Amino acid sequence: MEKTILTGDRPTGKLHLGHYVGSLKRRVELQNSGEYKDIFIMIADAQALTDNSENPEKVRQNIIEVALDYLSVGLDPEKSTLFIQSQIPELCELAFYYMNLVTVSRLQRNPTVKSEIQMRNFEASIPVGFFTYPISQASDITAFKATTVPVGEDQLPMLEQTKEIVRKFNSVYEETLIEPEILLPENQACLRLPGTDGKAKMSKSLNNCIYLSDSAEDVRKKVMSMYTDPDHLQVSDPGKIEGNTVFTYLDAFCKPEHFEKYLPDYPNLAELKAHYQRGGLGDVKVKRFLNAILEEELAPIRERRQELETKIPEIYDILKKGSEKAKAVAANTLNDVKNAMKINYFDDMELIKEQSERYNSGK
Ligand code: TRP
Repeated sequence: MEKTILTGDRPTGKLHLGHYVGSLKRRVELQNSGEYKDIFIMIADAQALTDNSENPEKVRQNIIEVALDYLSVGLDPEKSTLFIQSQIPELCELAFYYMNLVTVSRLQRNPTVKSEIQMRNFEASIPVGFFTYPISQASDITAFKATTVPVGEDQLPMLEQTKEIVRKFNSVYEETLIEPEILLPENQACLRLPGTDGKAKMSKSLNNCIYLSDSAEDVRKKVMSMYTDPDHLQVSDPGKIEGNTVFTYLDAFCKPEHFEKYLPDYPNLAELKAHYQRGGLGDVKVKRFLNAILEEELAPIRERRQELETKIPEIYDILKKGSEKAKAVAANTLNDVKNAMKINYFDDMELIKEQSERYNSGK
C-alpha cells in the first residue's frame, strides 16, 4: 500500500529542541527517504485556538514562526505539502460527523486532554472546542488518508482515538477511512526531551526551552546553566547520570564521531559516563562538549532561518499553495465520507427512484 504522512504542530510559539528531536528531524529524514507518496505538514492554528481563545493574535503571529522553523530544518515544499489547518473547512465538516461516533466519557478518559486540562486550569470551565479537539485531530489525520503519523509520545492517545473513530466509521458505514500508525522517535532520549531545568518537558511557560532560532550565545548560556546532578559539587565527587539533563541531551544528540572532533580524550559516551560516575569529571567540560554538538546541529538551521526571514511573502505563498493542494485532497475524502454515509442525496438516483416508486406504485 502507498504510504502517506500527516503531522503538524500548534502555532503557539517558536519550535524548540524537544520538537526537533521528538519529531522535526525525523520528518526531514522521512521526507528524503522517498518512501512516502505524500507528506502533509499542518500548522494547526484551529487546534491552537481551542486553548487560546483569548489570545488569537498569538496564534496568528506564530504561524510564520512555525513555517520558518519547518523550512529551516529542511522540510522542502517541493517534497512536503505545508499548509494551514483553518484554510481547510472540510476538516470541520468531517469532525462534525465523527462527533457522533465518540462519547463524552471517552473524551474525558483521554490522558493528554486530562493533563492539558490540569495544566491550563480548565477544570471549572473547559471550552467545548478544546474538549473535542481529539475528534478534530482524527479529521486532520483521516482527511489525508494518512497511514503514518510521526509525532511525540504525548500524541499516542490522539492516535488511539483516531483509530477508534476509523473502526467505528468503517463498521457503521462502509470501509472508507484508513487506520493510521503512530511513528515514535527511535531513540529513548528523544521520546521526551526534558527542559534545561531537568523538568519532564520543554515548555515555553516553564522557560526551559532551547529554541531552534536561539542565537549561538543564547544556546551556550542555556547549556552552561543546565540542570545536572545537584550533589555533584566538586569535580572529584562521583556524579549521577540518571536524571542528569546534560547526559540525557548527549543521549539524544551525541554521535560517535563527535568524540574525535570535540573530546578526543574519550573514545565514546559510555566512557564519558563512567568517568562522571567515578568522579573526577566536571560539569563544565561535559557542558562544553554538549554545546559543541548542539552548535554543529543548530548553526546550519539558524543560518537558513536568517535567510528565510528575508522572504516572508514567499513563505506565505508556499503555505497558500500547500493549503490549496491539501484542500483538494480533503475534499476528496469528504466526498467519500458523504457517499459512505449516504448523505449525497442529490446524486442518489436510487433513493429518489425508490421513494418515487413507493409513493406512486398504487396510482
Ligand atoms: N496535537 C498536535 C500538537 O499538539 C498538533 C496536531 C493537530 C496534529 N492535528 C494533528 C499532530 C494531526 C499530528 C496529526 O502539536
